[in-house]
Amino acid sequence: MSSGTCKTAILISGSGTNLQSFIDRVARGSMSIDLCGVFSNRPDAYGLTRARDAGVETKCIEHGRFDTREQFDRAVTAALAPWEPELIVLAGFMRILSPWFVRHYEGRILNIHPALLPRYPGLNTHERVLDAGDTHHGSTVHFVTEELDGGPRIVQGRIRVAPTTDPDDLMRRVQAIEHQIYPTAADWFGSGRIRMQDGATWLDGERLDEPVVLDFDL
Ligand code: GAR
Repeated sequence: MSSGTCKTAILISGSGTNLQSFIDRVARGSMSIDLCGVFSNRPDAYGLTRARDAGVETKCIEHGRFDTREQFDRAVTAALAPWEPELIVLAGFMRILSPWFVRHYEGRILNIHPALLPRYPGLNTHERVLDAGDTHHGSTVHFVTEELDGGPRIVQGRIRVAPTTDPDDLMRRVQAIEHQIYPTAADWFGSGRIRMQDGATWLDGERLDEPVVLDFDL
């Protein structure tokens, strides 16, 4: 599925609403990327159905049958190899990556994390934001390094938490933002506008000390 030339593989574990946002943007022909395939570590991931419905090739390998993280990651890489991906997009891929995998695709892996990093790496971000009484929340697209949720940040979508008090409602609002910022960040990569260098993000040739922050009224 193509509107551009940057071959992109999307890795998922679940529902794949972010994947759907990529499918929709590529279908509109307004992206620099070519969606070459979707990989899941779970055969029941609904995102696989979304991909098939869009005519995108899929592969699945369950992680449970591997003894180590690296063995699984090597199998994933072998499965992705025929697609010759230039960009790996983690879209709700709920696996910690081995250092081997991160080095293999160094500077070519993007992740989205549902928090305004560096706040709230890890799990249960929406609950933690509500518990802390934060006024703002959001999501961050970043390059992946060996540090979990710690690579150079590219773009953040930010909302006011109020009037939400329910974590599921907050999650839905944050995901609506993700569906806008993630394809945009991937498009920047595909068109050569962003790259990771010297441990930082560079956008249009300028080193970003802070990510691009986009405020949303959702
Ligand atoms: C997304 O909200 C994404 O930010 C999160 O998983 C969700 C996947 O939803 N990722 C992480 O928590 C990674 N640390 P989706 O399957 O509907 O795209």
